[in-house]
Amino acid sequence: MPRKKLLHILLGAVIAIVFIVPLGVYSFVKSGIYNVAAAHPHTKFTEWITHETMIHAVRRHSAGIPLPGYIAGAQVLRGFCTYETHCVACHGAAAVAREQWAAGMEPTPPYLLDTTSKWTPQQLFWIAKNGIKMTGMPSWRGSLSDGQIWDVVGFLEAMRDLPPQTYVQWRSRRMCGGFKGPWPAPGPASTPPAEPVRPTAATGGSAPSSKAAARP
Ligand code: HEC
Repeated sequence: MPRKKLLHILLGAVIAIVFIVPLGVYSFVKSGIYNVAAAHPHTKFTEWITHETMIHAVRRHSAGIPLPGYIAGAQVLRGFCTYETHCVACHGAAAVAREQWAAGMEPTPPYLLDTTSKWTPQQLFWIAKNGIKMTGMPSWRGSLSDGQIWDVVGFLEAMRDLPPQTYVQWRSRRMCGGFKGPWPAPGPASTPPAEPVRPTAATGGSAPSSKAAARP
């Protein structure tokens, strides 16, 4: 190919990239063609791009978060109350449906029953603390302390090993009575669960359930 022709092709490509592509993007944005309705689900392509971006961003940004030594039984209980106050409406729980309006979100908030098999405790902590852009998953850094977020993570981890009816049982015992959240923890009226609360190896150890029993 003559050198001059190659130069012309290159020049054409540069013009296209510098002018035509941005103009196309600008026209697309201003045209209103893209349907932003939450009632209109993402295409498979958009879903793949956003979800993959999210997974890899969480993995990258959560690297290096130190894991607390262990999650005590009392913490699991506090985590339950925090989850009841802040998370269950969107995410539901075992035998507890999400609020109906949560199904109107796009993406729909997933149930978190198997979330501990997808994410490490540090990743769960990062997600809850920072939220996920453009999905409706809020950042809790402004309303929950790091300790409270670890409580919720501990609760999610412990739930994995507890019978599925536990959530509804704890709920029916009204252990979070007066717990308007985000703090203080359940008061004197609350009794710790009779079931042993066993944090998993992933959270790094055994539960001193005596600590739960020692609560006022
Ligand atoms: C207003 C609704 C809403 C509330 C309240 C909410 N979330 Fe979410 N959450 C979402 C949505 C939507 C997603 C999905 C994000 C996505 O698909 O990338 C999500 C995703 C997550 C994920 C990742 C799940 C997965 O398997 O990919 C975790 C973990 C999570 N939320 C934890 C929490 C915790 C803990 C709380 C309470 C402190 C909470 N969320 C409160 C809407 C909510």
